[in-house]
Amino acid sequence: MSYKVAVITLSDSGASGKRADASGPLIEEMLSPEDFTVVGRHLLPDDPEALSALLRDLCDAGKADLILTTGGTGLSPRDHTPEATLAVIERNVPGISEVMRAASMKITPRAMLSRGVSGIRGRTLIINLPGSPKAVRENLEVILPTLPHALAILTDWEHNCAR
Ligand code: MTE
Repeated sequence: MSYKVAVITLSDSGASGKRADASGPLIEEMLSPEDFTVVGRHLLPDDPEALSALLRDLCDAGKADLILTTGGTGLSPRDHTPEATLAVIERNVPGISEVMRAASMKITPRAMLSRGVSGIRGRTLIINLPGSPKAVRENLEVILPTLPHALAILTDWEHNCAR
């Protein structure tokens, strides 16, 4: 089973062309093609309304089983990715973000500064990752092995956790 994945980079400097987006391509590179098909890569400024609208469209039109965002999770006044995500999710999946922060704390105390959240809208799982390529790699590798099972349950390919 290959799950449809949309990748969204939140970055004012990336969206204005001042900085190349390295994190979106890195996410794509880390996803094994056996399990995941990247159906869309998006680069948005740190604009919560634009992000919420894109998340709603991707979820409600069945365009993605999984949405991975990168960036905009910190404390700067322009960081609104968690709020834009919380505005659209129907069910919270806190464990995914908890485990990423816990694992990241073994690498850097600054891990506590990512406010990223995870949750479900319809049959789509949305996960916020921090913005730097280093943080993307360190966070995504923690959750990646469990994502196919999570998506199998969510999209009803598997009916329970027994396997
Ligand atoms: N997590 C890991 N594993 N490695 C990192 O280097 N950087 C932290 C944190 N999480 C980091 C990390 C830092 S410095 C910040 S400010 C926050 O993620 C938020 O990043 P963002 O604003 O780019 O989303």
